Amino acid sequence: MTARILVFAGSIRAQALSGTTADAATRELALQGAEVTRISLADYPLPIFDQDLEREKGVPENAVKLASLVASHDGFLIATPEYNASLPPLLKNAIDWISRVKQDSSGRAVRAFSGKPGAICSSSNGAFAGIRAANHLRAVLVHCQAEIVSAQCSVGRAQDAFDETGNLRDEATSRKLATTCRALLEAASLVRQRRN
Ligand SMILES: Cc1cc2nc3c(=O)[nH]c(=O)nc-3n(C[C@H](O)[C@H](O)[C@H](O)COP(=O)(O)O)c2cc1C
Repeated sequence: MTARILVFAGSIRAQALSGTTADAATRELALQGAEVTRISLADYPLPIFDQDLEREKGVPENAVKLASLVASHDGFLIATPEYNASLPPLLKNAIDWISRVKQDSSGRAVRAFSGKPGAICSSSNGAFAGIRAANHLRAVLVHCQAEIVSAQCSVGRAQDAFDETGNLRDEATSRKLATTCRALLEAASLVRQRRN
C-alpha cells in the first residue's frame, strides 16, 4: 500500500533553500515509493492569527484547506528555514491556523495533526543548519499531537549544498534525508494499516 505524504516548505521566497530541501525530500520520498503531494504555502495565504478576527470571521477557507490536506494524507514533511534561532512566522502562523480547524468544508470533524506522522527537515546558510528552528518546530508539532519521527535532516551551508539538479552533494546529508524519509514512510504506513 502506497503511503500518501504531504510536503511543504516554511518559506515562499523565490529560490528558497527550504524549498530546494522540500523538493529533494519530495524526490526521495517518491523514490522510496510514496505518493507525494508537494504544496507551497504561497497558494494558501492567511492573515496573521488574531483571536478577535477568528471570533468575528471564523477560520479562513485556506486554513480549512490546509488542515484538510494534512488530514487526508498519511503523513507530512516540513522543510523549515531558521529565523532568529526559530521557525519563521509564515510557518508558525499556518500551523496556528491549522490547529484551530475543527471541521472540514463538509462539516466532518478534523483534528489535522492529531496522531499524524510527520518529519522535519531544516536548512540554513549557516553552520547550524537550522537545527534550532527544527527543534522549535518539533516542539510545536508535538504539542499539536503530531507523531514526529526522531530522524531529521538539517542542511548546513545550504547555498552550496545542492548540485545543479537539486540533489544534495554531501553523502552523509543525503543519507540523513533518506533515513528521515524512510522513518516517515514506516510510521505513515503503520498508521494507514491501522486505519484500514
Ligand atoms: C529575520 C531573519 C532571521 C534570520 N535568522 C537566522 C538564524 O537565526 N539562523 C540562520 O541560520 N539563518 C538565519 N537567517 C538567514 C536565513 O536562514 C536565510 O535567509 C534563508 O535563506 C531563509 O530561508 P529560505 O531560503 O528557505 O527562504 C535569518 C533570516 C532572516 C530574514
